[in-house]
Amino acid sequence: MTDIQELLLSRIRDVADYPEPGVMFKDITPLLADPAAFTALTDALAETVERTGATKVVGLEARGFILGAPVAVRAGVGFIPVRKAGKLPGATLRQAYDLEYGSAEIEVHAEDLTEGDRVLVVDDVLATGGTAEASLELIRRAGAQVAGVTVLMELAFLNGRARLEAALAGAPLEALLTV
Ligand code: PRP
Ligand code: MG
Repeated sequence: MTDIQELLLSRIRDVADYPEPGVMFKDITPLLADPAAFTALTDALAETVERTGATKVVGLEARGFILGAPVAVRAGVGFIPVRKAGKLPGATLRQAYDLEYGSAEIEVHAEDLTEGDRVLVVDDVLATGGTAEASLELIRRAGAQVAGVTVLMELAFLNGRARLEAALAGAPLEALLTV
């Protein structure tokens, strides 16, 4: 493990049985509160923007906003919020996806993604992959290209990587930490 990975991992708090029994929640608030760790994370993800040739960063509400916005600024590209449905005032594209129980919907302003954009999706955690998969559908439906998905942490035992494979269509999925 690199020094940066050790720093990041040391600032993520495991919270047992949250939000429900049997779930180990990954709390990133200690990392956000540590300027050295948050800067190291931002720099690492901004490097991914440059390496993948992305021209825009999509952040997934809510924790993907916190991580993605400084990454976009650092990399010098635009930041596009993908929001939970009903929060954006303009014309949107909307995508439903399955949760363990039930379903959810996310939206993006249609005018924010166009042909010619190469879009990197940023989020904190890849779990089942449902949220990221839906965001990739939105990007493609908007006519934009997928540059990749990058997350702070991949929960490998939930097999999100396999779920994303078709939607990625060869674009990279990068995780700074895999647990
Ligand atoms: C969490 C996490 C990821 C998503 C991963 O978001 O931040 O966005 O779940 O799960 P998946 O891979 O199974 O889709 P959540 O919507 O729970 O909360 P948030 O609004 O705090 O980001
Ligand atoms: Mg989230």
